[in-house]
Amino acid sequence: MNQYVIHGGHPLFGEITVSGAKNAAVAIIPAALLVDGVCRIENIPQISDVTALLKILEQLGAKIRFLTPSDVEIDCRHITTTQVSQELAHKIRASYYLIGALLGRFGEAEVSMPGGCNFGGVRPIDQHVKGFVAMGAEVHEGDFIFARAKEGRMKGASVYLDVVSVGATMNIMMAAALADGMTTIENAAKEPHIVDLANFLNSMGADIKGAGTDTIRIYGVDKLHSGSYAIIPDQIEAGTYMVAAAATGGEVLIKNVIPKHLEGISAKLRETGTIVQEYEDAVLVKGASTLRKINLKTMPYPGFPTDMQPQFGVLLCLANGTSVITEGIYDNRFKYVNELRKMGAEIQVDGRVAVIEGGRRLSGALVQACDLRAGAAMVIAGMVANGTTEIEDVHYIERGYERFVEKLCALGADIRVDEEQETEQGRDNLVYVG
Ligand code: EPU
Repeated sequence: MNQYVIHGGHPLFGEITVSGAKNAAVAIIPAALLVDGVCRIENIPQISDVTALLKILEQLGAKIRFLTPSDVEIDCRHITTTQVSQELAHKIRASYYLIGALLGRFGEAEVSMPGGCNFGGVRPIDQHVKGFVAMGAEVHEGDFIFARAKEGRMKGASVYLDVVSVGATMNIMMAAALADGMTTIENAAKEPHIVDLANFLNSMGADIKGAGTDTIRIYGVDKLHSGSYAIIPDQIEAGTYMVAAAATGGEVLIKNVIPKHLEGISAKLRETGTIVQEYEDAVLVKGASTLRKINLKTMPYPGFPTDMQPQFGVLLCLANGTSVITEGIYDNRFKYVNELRKMGAEIQVDGRVAVIEGGRRLSGALVQACDLRAGAAMVIAGMVANGTTEIEDVHYIERGYERFVEKLCALGADIRVDEEQETEQGRDNLVYVG
């Protein structure tokens, strides 16, 4: 497994360009299965989750052709099977989107689910299943999910989500795009990637209205056609670089962003004293000489995103005073705190609340990337710490950040990648989350 070796103490300066949004790409790629034609998808992030999903589509019979490293053509005219092999599907959380897409187009799907324990707790998909069942599918859950539209084609239905779920909203949208009749999703998630998926499907001939509000209406159509679409910039990648600039006390212009999508992150950064200036498609972040304590709570969009919580956890270790973070989405997303404590952080966790005693100087240590965002947070911690930090399990980071080390080094970070030989067994044991 690769390791990152970081020598801390180098403020970040310069410009950086954000890639396409991971959580939009991992939905839009499976959604290409709904299209009886060729989709050209631009601004695809070069990350391992995307590679895995494209391989899955190829195994199902799709033809994949890269026009540039971030521009791909997917031809799903001749899909040969609706059974997704376990080998790749169990490694990515987003493999659940294959169920909605295959059900929507072919009326059946067999997909293995990601195993293991994510963020230290269960991440159920009951709301996805509730939607499929309401639309006339029978669903059997185990290590594999078997789903079949009882009448061969999904039927429009009204679905009220008991929890605001990004995954369930997008999965139901996919299952409904080619359904017989209209589907309504109430209490839908409103994240930018929900709107992006709806825009993608609409540009291929779907009829989806209301994405970005809590009521989405999907009028089923008979067929989706060829088209081309560019994925939105990654809100969380942008936010991660914003925090990295603030934490190191640097000054970074972050380009290719939609500032509106960053409002929650920008607002909380400003509360710490960090300067954030918005431009049409860029933000400039200037670190403050002293950071102020803040309290924050993660919530569904437009609230503060849970995927930025660990990065802010690191930033607040550096702030003057005591900050409180409340995790409003997941039962347990504080595993990274143990790693930060190894670097000298003083953080108490009680359930969904972390109390951070700021004003501590972090020191280099051997730590782990517990998951994707926790891993990014440890990289930020390493960049501000005294001495050398070694981070293990960085494969998690590479699932969701395109050329992370290269981009940070271009801003002045001192990070080396130590490559180690990966054993077959080691690779098989990986559990991916995201
Ligand atoms: N939930 C249920 N039942 C469901 C679905 C969700 O109880 O059927 C609960 C979850 O346990 C959680 C909450 O609802 O407590 C929200 O989960 P959601 O379904 O919104 O999350 P997700 O679709 O599994 C996506 C992203 C995550 C991101 C969340 C929240 C992908 C592949 N993953 O997960 O991204 O944290 O939305 O915004 O899009 C990441 O990028 O690091 C990452 C973890």
